[in-house]
Amino acid sequence: MSTQPPRTSASQGSNKVYQFKLVLLGESAVGKSSLVLRFVKDQFDDYRESTIGAAFLTQTISLDDNTTVKFEIWDTAGQERYKSLAPMYYRNANCAIVVYDITQTASLDKAKSWIKELQRQADPNIIIALAGNKSDLVSRRAISTQDAQAYAQEAGLLFFETSAKTTHNVSELFTAIAKKLPLEQIATSRNRNSLNQRQGVDLTQGNNTNGCAC
Ligand code: GTP
Ligand code: MG
Repeated sequence: MSTQPPRTSASQGSNKVYQFKLVLLGESAVGKSSLVLRFVKDQFDDYRESTIGAAFLTQTISLDDNTTVKFEIWDTAGQERYKSLAPMYYRNANCAIVVYDITQTASLDKAKSWIKELQRQADPNIIIALAGNKSDLVSRRAISTQDAQAYAQEAGLLFFETSAKTTHNVSELFTAIAKKLPLEQIATSRNRNSLNQRQGVDLTQGNNTNGCAC
């Protein structure tokens, strides 16, 4: 499967729309697809099919009256047999959400190994968020908030505990990433007429049909 998402264009008056590539990684069944489904469609399924390969979705967030961030989301498959495909999806990603399940200790170990791989092999400027999902399963918690938070802080990551089921912190997670993305650098590089492909793209500027950030 190609990582090239569809060409897109957008113009909303004086509103600037910036496009970024976001990838989700993490062990199978931690709730990556559920987080995306909640964010994009505000829905939740108690029984979801495991992802095959990867899924592509888009969603926008308004940061203020003039600024919209459009996420091009690659929701990867967590099953081991798809592991070798991951670099195709995190290559050139502007941001990543690495998900673990707060009830499964091994899923945090797996998340840490994805984070190491991203820090070694993805764009050096990639923004990484660690998400401890299924925060609604209070009685089955196996990983404390403090431990995960301390690790995230040390590794320089955004950190949220989320629940795709109850919606807890889902929009907060994506909004925090959007706020950390380098919008100003995009404006600067555009002025220099040297828009770097790794940056998000301001879709309101002339040649926006080539505005793929991937
Ligand atoms: P792969 O596609 O195999 O990598 O898995 P995934 O990480 O995409 O997990 P998925 O979203 O398919 O969710 C796995 C299971 O966990 C499903 O049965 C979901 O209903 C359930 N689930 C996901 N998020 C939550 C949550 O926040 N709380 C609870 N209680 N269950 C959740
Ligand atoms: Mg999935």
